[in-house]
Amino acid sequence: MLEISGIKAGYGSMAVLQGLDMRVEAGEIVALLGSNGVGKTTLNNVISGFIRPSAGSISFKGVPLSGKKPRDIVALGLAHVPEGRKIFPNLSVAENLKLGAFRRASANRARNFDHICTIFPRLKERLGQLAGTLSGGEQQMLAIGRGMMSEPDLIILDEPSLGLSPLMVEEMFSLITRINGEGVAVLLVEQNVMQSLTVAKRAYVIEQGRFVMQGEAAELLADPQLRQAYLGM
Ligand SMILES: Nc1ncnc2c1ncn2[C@@H]1O[C@H](COP(=O)(O)OP(=O)(O)OP(=O)(O)O)[C@@H](O)[C@H]1O
Ligand SMILES: [Mg+2]
Repeated sequence: MLEISGIKAGYGSMAVLQGLDMRVEAGEIVALLGSNGVGKTTLNNVISGFIRPSAGSISFKGVPLSGKKPRDIVALGLAHVPEGRKIFPNLSVAENLKLGAFRRASANRARNFDHICTIFPRLKERLGQLAGTLSGGEQQMLAIGRGMMSEPDLIILDEPSLGLSPLMVEEMFSLITRINGEGVAVLLVEQNVMQSLTVAKRAYVIEQGRFVMQGEAAELLADPQLRQAYLGM
């Protein structure tokens, strides 16, 4: 579904991504793991069309993404939930959700809205509340719900568990599994290595802009090198 080959990108003269090959198949959860500053968000922004790569190519459902604008990529069925809960704080929860159907699935807006309210009961209870007054975890759910309003085939979640309490992290990971259970492929960018490998089918580990490990999540979880480097075990 998503094919990335030889991607290089950076900022000015600083190279960040040093030639990445990666794929996400329909219906999979794929985890992209790595420490701070290694290029995870940069790769997301390249996929979503916010940053132009200096080399390599990306295709989604067989369509080359090179030169496409972020809104055209959303319209193809690839939703991006950015790092840091970028919701509209001065709009209500309901208004934020409705904006998610701006580029795609606008004809099904009402149906998808109801559906998202059943997936995220916390949001349903707060539809009229200003989004900026939601708790951090609720804002993260709103950002994901808004992405889901476009009926994506693939959703990229950039650090959905960041800053959440352990209980809310659990809830977030079960929501991700639920969304995936509805047939949506998920590219899950996380520093939460243990939980990500538990929900993902496959994973890639990035260090300094290069993949240093990749494979089936269960195998990586058992890998002594990964356990030592990322789980301290
Ligand atoms: N707009 C920018 N201009 C210049 N440098 C940038 C810019 N955005 C990111 N960088 C740098 O690129 C490198 C990779 O950043 P990136 O945000 O992709 O990391 P990350 O893996 O997502 O990290 P984190 O886990 O902390 O979110 C970092 O050294 C960062 O400082
Ligand atoms: Mg990041």
